[in-house]
Amino acid sequence: MSARRPVFLGHTAAPSGAELAFARLAGELRHRGVPASVVLLAPGPLTEVLAAADVPVTVVPGRPSAVRRDAGPLAVLRGAIGLYRTGRRLAPMLLAQDADVVVAESTKSLFVGAVASRRTGIPLVWQVHDRVSAEYFGRKRFPLRLLGRVAASGYLANSRGTLRTISTGGSPTAVCHPGVDLATVPAPEPQRAPKNVQIAMIGRITPWKGQDLLLRALAQMEAEPRVRFVGGAHFDGDDAYLAELEELARRLGIAERVTFTGHVTDPLTEAADADIVVHYSRLTEPFGQVVAEAMAAGRVVVAARAGGPTELIVDRENGVLVPPRRPDLLAVALDSLIADWELREQLSAAARDRGRDLDLKTSAAIADSLLARVARDVR
Ligand code: GLC
Repeated sequence: MSARRPVFLGHTAAPSGAELAFARLAGELRHRGVPASVVLLAPGPLTEVLAAADVPVTVVPGRPSAVRRDAGPLAVLRGAIGLYRTGRRLAPMLLAQDADVVVAESTKSLFVGAVASRRTGIPLVWQVHDRVSAEYFGRKRFPLRLLGRVAASGYLANSRGTLRTISTGGSPTAVCHPGVDLATVPAPEPQRAPKNVQIAMIGRITPWKGQDLLLRALAQMEAEPRVRFVGGAHFDGDDAYLAELEELARRLGIAERVTFTGHVTDPLTEAADADIVVHYSRLTEPFGQVVAEAMAAGRVVVAARAGGPTELIVDRENGVLVPPRRPDLLAVALDSLIADWELREQLSAAARDRGRDLDLKTSAAIADSLLARVARDVR
């Protein structure tokens, strides 16, 4: 049985990880014949991504007020009132679209979706992309878990680790890894010889993604690979971090080997061009789509041993895991990997095998059956 009319609810139209993941999922559900659509709380570049995938998208009128994660109680209250009003405006839109389940894609859309779900009786599923842990949410994790527990009738988590950070009260849950569209993955090139190895780090430029840690590792290595940092500085304060990274590269004397590409529309091509893809987030990565994509493209991924990547990589079998926040150990791991061409070839073939399980079609099948179950159970 399939879901009939899921509506995915996103709060932002910035094309970052969670947004790209649900846009892809909605597109794939439509391929399966499920008429999924998207409602956003703000217009932006994601609308084009959705249009290209033939996913209908509408924007809730009015601007929801911005609530920063570090806001004080008054600002939070004001923000909550704004979100409540947005939820009331959303309700008739869901009814008009004949939605049978609404899927909240972020904490803000969970709140807005909860209000609309109450008013319409349309059940809500929380698709969880963030770890609801102290690291990310501090003390706010408690009210957020409670809201998720009360408002949602089902949960999709991007990894087993993410699922463990929420409270589901026995409602239907599924681990639904964000899938890779295998049709778009290029065939892998052979690994380059040690002296020509190229490394890529892909992800938005922001302190928690740990670009500075890789720069520090590079400065301690024997090998002198060229490295591309692929990703834009999209949000507040990230520009300053980019300037710091450029300065750090100069100070460490490695600036001529390091390139910052800015935002690219096709990061998969960048991954495929590299021999090694490093993913070294400072915080526990909830899933890490870059890791999945790079593996599917048969690249050797070196990742921090924490969160989502540990569910994809088996150390020295299909990739390499390094303790987090240890540039010295990252340097050692990269040096030994670069020197060993045969190992790189083996890891790359095994990574490609693992990547096949991460097919977007599989993710869509998992999401479809969970959504159908919730739509059916509640109504
Ligand atoms: C969020 C998470 C990231 C995950 C993505 C898709 O951006 O931080 O780890 O890959 O959502 O679920």
